[in-house]
Amino acid sequence: MAARPGPEHRVALLERLAREKTPRVAASSSSLGALRPGCGSVTEAVRDDRGVAIRPVRVNDAADLQAVRHQPGVLTGTLNIASERLHDLRREIEELGPHEHEVVAQIDGRVVGTARLVAYAGRMNHVGEIVHIMVHDEFQGGGIGRQLLQALLAITDNYLGLVRVELLVFPDNEGAVRLYESFGFAHEGVKRKCARRQGQLVDALAMVRIRGEEPPSPSAAPSDAPEDY
Ligand SMILES: CC(C)(COP(=O)(O)OP(=O)(O)OC[C@H]1O[C@@H](n2cnc3c(N)ncnc32)[C@H](O)[C@@H]1OP(=O)(O)O)[C@@H](O)C(=O)NCCC(=O)NCCS
Repeated sequence: MAARPGPEHRVALLERLAREKTPRVAASSSSLGALRPGCGSVTEAVRDDRGVAIRPVRVNDAADLQAVRHQPGVLTGTLNIASERLHDLRREIEELGPHEHEVVAQIDGRVVGTARLVAYAGRMNHVGEIVHIMVHDEFQGGGIGRQLLQALLAITDNYLGLVRVELLVFPDNEGAVRLYESFGFAHEGVKRKCARRQGQLVDALAMVRIRGEEPPSPSAAPSDAPEDY
Protein backbone atom coordinates (compact mmCIF):
# COMPACT_ATOMS: atom_id res chain seq x y z
CA MET A 1 0.00 0.00 0.00
CA ALA A 2 1.36 3.44 -0.91
CA ALA A 3 2.45 5.55 2.04
CA ARG A 4 0.15 8.49 2.77
CA PRO A 5 1.76 11.94 2.92
CA GLY A 6 2.27 13.31 6.44
CA PRO A 7 0.66 16.45 7.88
CA GLU A 8 3.57 18.74 6.89
CA HIS A 9 3.27 17.55 3.34
CA ARG A 10 -0.46 18.24 3.34
CA VAL A 11 0.00 21.76 4.66
CA ALA A 12 2.54 22.46 1.91
CA LEU A 13 0.17 20.92 -0.61
CA LEU A 14 -2.76 23.05 0.50
CA GLU A 15 -0.57 26.16 0.33
CA ARG A 16 0.37 25.18 -3.20
CA LEU A 17 -3.27 24.56 -4.14
CA ALA A 18 -4.31 27.93 -2.79
CA ARG A 19 -1.43 29.67 -4.57
CA GLU A 20 -2.13 28.05 -7.90
CA LYS A 21 -5.94 28.05 -7.72
CA THR A 22 -7.69 27.27 -10.97
CA PRO A 23 -8.88 30.54 -12.50
CA ARG A 24 -12.48 31.29 -11.55
CA VAL A 25 -14.99 30.21 -14.12
CA ALA A 26 -17.71 32.74 -14.58
CA ALA A 27 -21.26 32.00 -13.70
CA SER A 28 -22.77 32.43 -17.10
CA SER A 29 -25.11 29.54 -17.58
CA SER A 30 -23.88 29.21 -21.14
CA SER A 31 -20.24 29.23 -20.16
CA LEU A 32 -19.62 25.80 -18.80
CA GLY A 33 -17.53 23.19 -20.54
CA ALA A 34 -18.27 19.59 -21.35
CA LEU A 35 -17.82 16.56 -19.20
CA ARG A 36 -19.57 13.27 -18.87
CA PRO A 37 -18.63 10.00 -17.24
CA GLY A 38 -18.19 7.39 -19.93
CA CYS A 39 -17.82 9.97 -22.66
CA GLY A 40 -14.67 11.99 -22.98
CA SER A 41 -11.52 12.53 -21.03
CA VAL A 42 -13.13 12.51 -17.60
CA THR A 43 -13.11 8.72 -17.70
CA GLU A 44 -9.37 8.97 -17.12
CA ALA A 45 -7.77 10.67 -14.17
CA VAL A 46 -6.78 13.87 -15.93
CA ARG A 47 -4.58 15.94 -13.67
CA ASP A 48 -4.42 19.69 -13.76
CA ASP A 49 -1.03 21.32 -13.32
CA ARG A 50 -1.49 21.20 -9.54
CA GLY A 51 -1.89 17.44 -9.58
CA VAL A 52 -5.65 17.47 -8.92
CA ALA A 53 -7.59 14.93 -10.99
CA ILE A 54 -11.37 15.16 -11.37
CA ARG A 55 -12.93 11.87 -12.46
CA PRO A 56 -16.01 9.70 -11.97
CA VAL A 57 -16.29 7.90 -8.66
CA ARG A 58 -15.17 4.27 -8.35
CA VAL A 59 -16.25 1.68 -5.80
CA ASN A 60 -12.75 1.46 -4.37
CA ASP A 61 -12.86 5.18 -3.51
CA ALA A 62 -15.23 4.29 -0.67
CA ALA A 63 -12.66 4.27 2.15
CA ASP A 64 -11.23 7.67 1.19
CA LEU A 65 -14.74 9.05 0.76
CA GLN A 66 -15.77 7.71 4.14
CA ALA A 67 -12.90 9.69 5.67
CA VAL A 68 -14.03 12.83 3.82
CA ARG A 69 -17.65 12.34 4.90
CA HIS A 70 -16.68 12.10 8.58
CA GLN A 71 -14.54 15.24 8.78
CA PRO A 72 -15.87 17.60 11.46
CA GLY A 73 -16.25 20.49 8.99
CA VAL A 74 -17.98 18.26 6.47
CA LEU A 75 -20.39 16.87 9.08
CA THR A 76 -21.35 20.44 10.03
CA GLY A 77 -22.12 21.52 6.47
CA THR A 78 -23.92 18.38 5.26
CA LEU A 79 -26.53 15.82 6.29
CA ASN A 80 -23.89 13.10 6.79
CA ILE A 81 -24.12 11.02 9.97
CA ALA A 82 -20.94 10.11 11.84
CA SER A 83 -22.00 6.47 12.27
CA GLU A 84 -22.36 5.75 8.55
CA ARG A 85 -20.63 2.50 7.66
CA LEU A 86 -18.11 1.90 4.94
CA HIS A 87 -20.03 -1.17 3.80
CA ASP A 88 -23.13 0.94 3.10
CA LEU A 89 -21.18 3.62 1.29
CA ARG A 90 -19.52 1.02 -0.92
CA ARG A 91 -22.90 -0.46 -1.78
CA GLU A 92 -24.35 2.99 -2.44
CA ILE A 93 -21.59 3.74 -4.96
CA GLU A 94 -22.04 0.32 -6.56
CA GLU A 95 -25.74 0.98 -6.98
CA LEU A 96 -25.52 4.50 -8.42
CA GLY A 97 -27.94 4.63 -11.35
CA PRO A 98 -27.57 6.17 -14.78
CA HIS A 99 -29.20 9.39 -13.60
CA GLU A 100 -26.76 9.83 -10.73
CA HIS A 101 -23.52 11.55 -11.64
CA GLU A 102 -20.70 11.64 -9.13
CA VAL A 103 -17.23 13.05 -9.61
CA VAL A 104 -14.34 12.94 -7.18
CA ALA A 105 -11.14 14.94 -6.74
CA GLN A 106 -7.98 12.90 -6.37
CA ILE A 107 -4.62 14.20 -5.32
CA ASP A 108 -1.47 12.15 -4.69
CA GLY A 109 -3.51 8.99 -5.20
CA ARG A 110 -6.04 9.93 -2.54
CA VAL A 111 -9.64 11.01 -3.00
CA VAL A 112 -10.18 14.24 -1.06
CA GLY A 113 -13.50 15.51 -2.36
CA THR A 114 -16.69 14.56 -4.13
CA ALA A 115 -19.83 16.03 -5.69
CA ARG A 116 -22.97 14.24 -6.84
CA LEU A 117 -25.90 15.28 -9.00
CA VAL A 118 -29.19 13.44 -9.48
CA ALA A 119 -31.08 14.15 -12.70
CA TYR A 120 -34.86 13.88 -12.48
CA ALA A 121 -37.04 11.96 -14.92
CA GLY A 122 -40.30 12.39 -16.82
CA ARG A 123 -41.82 15.84 -16.85
CA MET A 124 -39.01 17.11 -14.68
CA ASN A 125 -36.23 15.76 -16.85
CA HIS A 126 -34.93 19.30 -17.29
CA VAL A 127 -34.13 19.41 -13.55
CA GLY A 128 -31.25 18.10 -11.50
CA GLU A 129 -30.28 18.36 -7.87
CA ILE A 130 -26.81 18.61 -6.43
CA VAL A 131 -27.22 16.26 -3.51
CA HIS A 132 -23.76 16.65 -2.08
CA ILE A 133 -20.46 18.40 -2.46
CA MET A 134 -17.71 18.04 0.12
CA VAL A 135 -13.96 18.43 0.42
CA HIS A 136 -11.81 16.92 3.18
CA ASP A 137 -11.25 19.53 5.91
CA GLU A 138 -7.49 19.56 5.31
CA PHE A 139 -7.95 20.44 1.64
CA GLN A 140 -10.69 23.06 1.84
CA GLY A 141 -9.93 26.51 0.47
CA GLY A 142 -7.65 25.20 -2.27
CA GLY A 143 -10.03 25.45 -5.21
CA ILE A 144 -11.12 21.79 -5.20
CA GLY A 145 -14.78 22.53 -4.45
CA ARG A 146 -14.84 24.93 -7.37
CA GLN A 147 -13.37 22.28 -9.68
CA LEU A 148 -15.92 19.68 -8.55
CA LEU A 149 -18.88 22.01 -9.06
CA GLN A 150 -17.57 23.11 -12.44
CA ALA A 151 -17.32 19.46 -13.46
CA LEU A 152 -20.92 18.70 -12.46
CA LEU A 153 -22.27 21.79 -14.19
CA ALA A 154 -20.36 20.90 -17.32
CA ILE A 155 -22.23 17.59 -17.30
CA THR A 156 -25.60 19.26 -16.73
CA ASP A 157 -25.12 21.90 -19.42
CA ASN A 158 -23.42 20.10 -22.22
CA TYR A 159 -24.58 16.52 -21.95
CA LEU A 160 -27.80 16.35 -19.96
CA GLY A 161 -29.15 19.71 -21.16
CA LEU A 162 -30.61 20.49 -17.76
CA VAL A 163 -32.28 23.87 -17.42
CA ARG A 164 -32.74 23.93 -13.68
CA VAL A 165 -30.13 22.80 -11.16
CA GLU A 166 -31.12 23.07 -7.52
CA LEU A 167 -29.61 22.41 -4.14
CA LEU A 168 -30.05 23.02 -0.43
CA VAL A 169 -27.46 24.62 1.82
CA PHE A 170 -27.40 25.79 5.41
CA PRO A 171 -27.72 29.61 5.18
CA ASP A 172 -24.76 30.19 7.52
CA ASN A 173 -22.45 28.06 5.36
CA GLU A 174 -20.97 31.19 3.82
CA GLY A 175 -18.20 29.51 1.88
CA ALA A 176 -20.59 27.14 0.15
CA VAL A 177 -23.20 29.87 -0.53
CA ARG A 178 -20.51 32.08 -2.11
CA LEU A 179 -19.26 29.20 -4.19
CA TYR A 180 -22.77 28.54 -5.56
CA GLU A 181 -23.42 32.24 -6.16
CA SER A 182 -20.23 32.47 -8.15
CA PHE A 183 -21.66 29.88 -10.56
CA GLY A 184 -24.93 31.77 -10.96
CA PHE A 185 -27.05 30.08 -8.29
CA ALA A 186 -29.75 32.38 -6.91
CA HIS A 187 -31.47 32.26 -3.53
CA GLU A 188 -34.91 30.78 -4.09
CA GLY A 189 -36.34 30.47 -0.62
CA VAL A 190 -35.92 29.04 2.83
CA LYS A 191 -37.06 25.61 3.96
CA ARG A 192 -37.83 26.08 7.62
CA LYS A 193 -36.69 23.58 10.23
CA CYS A 194 -35.39 21.48 7.40
CA ALA A 195 -32.78 19.34 9.13
CA ARG A 196 -31.17 18.58 12.46
CA ARG A 197 -27.72 20.01 13.12
CA GLN A 198 -25.95 19.56 16.42
CA GLY A 199 -29.27 18.72 18.02
CA GLN A 200 -31.17 21.73 16.68
CA LEU A 201 -33.67 21.96 13.84
CA VAL A 202 -32.26 24.47 11.38
CA ASP A 203 -33.42 26.10 8.15
CA ALA A 204 -31.99 25.38 4.75
CA LEU A 205 -31.58 27.81 1.89
CA ALA A 206 -32.89 26.60 -1.47
CA MET A 207 -30.67 27.77 -4.34
CA VAL A 208 -31.25 27.38 -8.04
CA ARG A 209 -29.35 27.98 -11.25
CA ILE A 210 -31.56 28.42 -14.31
CA ARG A 211 -29.70 28.03 -17.54
CA GLY A 212 -30.09 30.96 -19.87
CA GLU A 213 -30.93 33.41 -17.12
CA GLU A 214 -28.49 36.14 -16.28
CA PRO A 215 -26.44 35.33 -13.17
CA PRO A 216 -27.72 37.44 -10.29
CA SER A 217 -24.34 37.98 -8.67
CA PRO A 218 -22.57 41.14 -9.88
CA SER A 219 -19.24 39.34 -9.38
CA ALA A 220 -20.34 36.61 -11.72
CA ALA A 221 -19.61 38.07 -15.10
CA PRO A 222 -20.20 35.89 -18.14
CA SER A 223 -17.13 34.61 -19.91
CA ASP A 224 -16.09 32.18 -22.57
CA ALA A 225 -16.58 28.47 -22.06
CA PRO A 226 -14.13 26.88 -19.63
CA GLU A 227 -11.86 24.05 -20.66
CA ASP A 228 -13.21 20.53 -20.59
CA TYR A 229 -11.81 18.09 -18.09
C1 LIG B 1 -18.15 24.03 0.52
C2 LIG B 1 -16.91 23.31 0.01
C3 LIG B 1 -17.33 22.13 -0.85
C4 LIG B 1 -16.10 24.29 -0.87
O1 LIG B 1 -14.96 23.61 -1.33
P1 LIG B 1 -13.51 24.30 -1.16
O2 LIG B 1 -12.53 23.48 -1.89
O3 LIG B 1 -13.27 24.55 0.27
O4 LIG B 1 -13.77 25.69 -1.90
P2 LIG B 1 -12.84 26.43 -2.95
O5 LIG B 1 -11.46 26.57 -2.41
O6 LIG B 1 -13.01 25.79 -4.27
O7 LIG B 1 -13.50 27.87 -2.96
C5 LIG B 1 -14.45 28.18 -3.93
C6 LIG B 1 -15.19 29.42 -3.54
O8 LIG B 1 -15.98 29.18 -2.40
C7 LIG B 1 -16.02 30.33 -1.59
N1 LIG B 1 -15.44 30.00 -0.31
C8 LIG B 1 -14.85 28.82 0.03
N2 LIG B 1 -14.50 28.85 1.33
C9 LIG B 1 -14.88 30.06 1.81
C10 LIG B 1 -14.83 30.70 3.07
N3 LIG B 1 -14.29 30.08 4.14
N4 LIG B 1 -15.34 31.92 3.19
C11 LIG B 1 -15.89 32.56 2.12
N5 LIG B 1 -15.95 32.02 0.90
C12 LIG B 1 -15.46 30.79 0.74
C13 LIG B 1 -15.28 31.40 -2.30
O9 LIG B 1 -16.20 32.10 -3.09
C14 LIG B 1 -14.35 30.62 -3.19
O10 LIG B 1 -14.10 31.36 -4.31
P3 LIG B 1 -12.60 31.74 -4.80
O11 LIG B 1 -12.12 30.52 -5.48
O12 LIG B 1 -12.80 32.87 -5.72
O13 LIG B 1 -11.82 32.07 -3.56
C15 LIG B 1 -16.01 22.84 1.17
O14 LIG B 1 -15.61 23.93 1.93
C16 LIG B 1 -16.64 21.77 2.06
O15 LIG B 1 -16.54 20.60 1.77
N6 LIG B 1 -17.29 22.20 3.18
C17 LIG B 1 -17.87 21.23 4.10
C18 LIG B 1 -19.05 20.48 3.49
C19 LIG B 1 -20.09 21.45 2.99
O16 LIG B 1 -20.43 22.41 3.68
N7 LIG B 1 -20.60 21.19 1.78
C20 LIG B 1 -21.63 22.01 1.18
C21 LIG B 1 -22.95 21.45 1.51
S1 LIG B 1 -24.28 22.41 0.80
